[in-house]
Amino acid sequence: MSLADSLQYFTEENSADVVCARMQAAKNERLANVMESAVRHLHAFVKEVEPTIEEWEQAIGFLTDTGKMCDDKRQEWILLSDVLGVSMLVDTINTRRPSGATENTVLGPFHVEGVPEREMGDTVSEDGKGEEVYVSGKVTDIDGNPIEGAIIDTWQASHDGYYDNQQPDIQPEHNLRGIFRTRADGTYNYRAILPCSYGIPDDGPVGVILRGLSRGSMRPAHLHYIVSAPGYETVTTHYFVKGDPVLEDDAVFGVKESLIADFEQHDDSSLARKLGVSNPFRSVEANFRPCRRRAEVTLPPRALGQKKRFGGFICTAPAIKLSAYLNDAKHKQREKHGITRNRKRCGGLYAAQSGR
Ligand code: BEZ
Ligand code: FE
Repeated sequence: MSLADSLQYFTEENSADVVCARMQAAKNERLANVMESAVRHLHAFVKEVEPTIEEWEQAIGFLTDTGKMCDDKRQEWILLSDVLGVSMLVDTINTRRPSGATENTVLGPFHVEGVPEREMGDTVSEDGKGEEVYVSGKVTDIDGNPIEGAIIDTWQASHDGYYDNQQPDIQPEHNLRGIFRTRADGTYNYRAILPCSYGIPDDGPVGVILRGLSRGSMRPAHLHYIVSAPGYETVTTHYFVKGDPVLEDDAVFGVKESLIADFEQHDDSSLARKLGVSNPFRSVEANFRPCRRRAEVTLPPRALGQKKRFGGFICTAPAIKLSAYLNDAKHKQREKHGITRNRKRCGGLYAAQSGR
């Protein structure tokens, strides 16, 4: 009997081989590779777990409910990916950087477009609530050279843990959001408020799984940033508040040690006056070191047109050049119109139905 014949009928032993054999005519090589890997891992998983029919039905029900929870305001699939650590893994694989460069972390669902560019030193608070934080820092390359005109797009939750788009009837639009542009020496400063830890939406199937696993649904307090500059990789990251009790139990695994910062406490009226904040206040230094676009640092000219392992994918050099070009185009758009999305996660996701 030939190999093809022996693979014709499905058995417990050859299950993955039989399914994968049917994909051999696929024209899209990447699709075929990804699906073969998915099928092999999935079959191995089923063989290890040996689900009962009832358990399989429960799993299908869970996936169905997850899909039903998705609309233009809420994306339960992404939330599921977040709490399983898959979002962070994909992000980490796609943002491998030289040491010294600022690390990326999850974008999250609450980023929005159309945020106003604010004057240096302005507050991002539109409602005046919360403990003031003087945020300052510098954007440099990894050798410490200042980057002028870098765009810092920041957003954060309120003092009681909600983004403005989760509370459209309570918080003013664009509360705790802003865009700033660095000075010639790479520095910037603005006024924020002290964020607090908050719960991710847990009123859907993801919440059921988290509770079933006795897992927490909290995220430690953080400020969000997207920092972009022409010629540099865009950094999507957070600064976390040192000492937050859930730093080691972030529901979405977004914490990296290099992103934990001291939000120092001050009770000093003359310093407060000098910095333009109300006393007492906090301060935090949030520096960013984007690295040069990968196309420039990793690909010698002779690689042009050759296939090269790059950021976990096999790309040709022209493809990388295109992505570098798009990166610059995005920065220019941000400069012109304020903010634009850099990923396809719509602002306000989870907002209306967060149920918190
Ligand atoms: C956030 O930090 O805004 C976030 C990230 C992932 C899931 C939910 C919220
Ligand atoms: Fe957040």
